[in-house]
Amino acid sequence: MKAVRAKITALGMYVPERRVTNDELSKLVDTSDEWIRARTGIAERRIVSDSQANSDLSIKAIKNAFQARELRPEEIDLIIVATVTPDMMFPSTACIIQDKIGAKNAWGFDLLGACSGFLYAIATGAQFVQTGAYKRVLVIGTDVMSSILNFEDRTTCVLFGDGAGAVLLEPSQEDDTGIIDFILHSDGSGGKFLYMPAGGSLHPASHETVDKKMHYVHQDGRNVFKFAVKLMTEVSLEILQRNGYTTEDVTLYIPHQANLRIIQSSVERLKLRPEQVVINIDRYANTTAATIPVGLAEAYHQGRMKKGDLMLLVSFGAGFTWGSLLLRWGDLG
Ligand code: COA
Repeated sequence: MKAVRAKITALGMYVPERRVTNDELSKLVDTSDEWIRARTGIAERRIVSDSQANSDLSIKAIKNAFQARELRPEEIDLIIVATVTPDMMFPSTACIIQDKIGAKNAWGFDLLGACSGFLYAIATGAQFVQTGAYKRVLVIGTDVMSSILNFEDRTTCVLFGDGAGAVLLEPSQEDDTGIIDFILHSDGSGGKFLYMPAGGSLHPASHETVDKKMHYVHQDGRNVFKFAVKLMTEVSLEILQRNGYTTEDVTLYIPHQANLRIIQSSVERLKLRPEQVVINIDRYANTTAATIPVGLAEAYHQGRMKKGDLMLLVSFGAGFTWGSLLLRWGDLG
């Protein structure tokens, strides 16, 4: 008997209304629109309003996904939320979302894979569908990076933004559509290059941790950049080769959006054409776990995907974590 594939049958996204331009940031730190555009490709990012938390963004992304789909929340079996910026340390944002949308038959959990969180989560969710354990798994990649950014540090605050993307996984009714394969990696020795030191059990919140600004993103950008280009390229080639494809077969390459120069370097090495590549870092910056589902949803709504297309999703992030996922696009449910 052929194994069942998990397939994306609904997808949606949400970014906060508030746009923050590079010029606005240059009033807070010693930077410029010219520097940010040239070094990162970012022109603006979206930032939450005071009352918006991670779950609020996620719910809007879920509603966007379900606009074209008649589905009752009670029909959802499992909710997996990939994030590094949950509403609070506990309960999980998955539980908060489950309550807010009324998915009373679902259980759920948060998954921390940083910028690879969405790939980790969709690969995890797919297992429950492929084994036949569940029929409907909601996978959300969502982050409110502005909640952990130091807006006095020009080397990090210009790079990130807030956003959420959501997909529904269901068993594929056709043999060849759905998730084909994934490759996921971690290398904890890279942890020192990108991290948030305080707020966990190692450095619980205290006046000292706040004074030392330990609740913010800390990063060695040059090292992160170097590993990102190398590992995203390698893991892309690895998954294509082991499934008998080349980059020519790929309709859309949807990479994590951390820096336009990282994306361009991997695109050059993979010899991809511009029309094969999804880029939105110029408008949203790096939304961590949200970049890939937001990229997917935008590409779908722009009519860039049709049944039978091959999609290559690739990530790299804190941990280090990285991975790739190959899927054949099918009709939405
Ligand atoms: N505005 C103006 N100057 C800035 C700046 C800013 N926002 N940020 C850094 N600089 C300065 C640095 O202080 C440095 O000055 P110095 O030479 O006087 O010390 C100079 O620009 C060059 O810094 P460098 O770190 O070499 O720049 P870069 O070209 O490597 O770009 C990053 C910096 C952070 C944009 C880049 O390294 C990067 O994108 N790294 C990966 C980050 C990432 O992807 N993180 C998420 C992973 S999922």
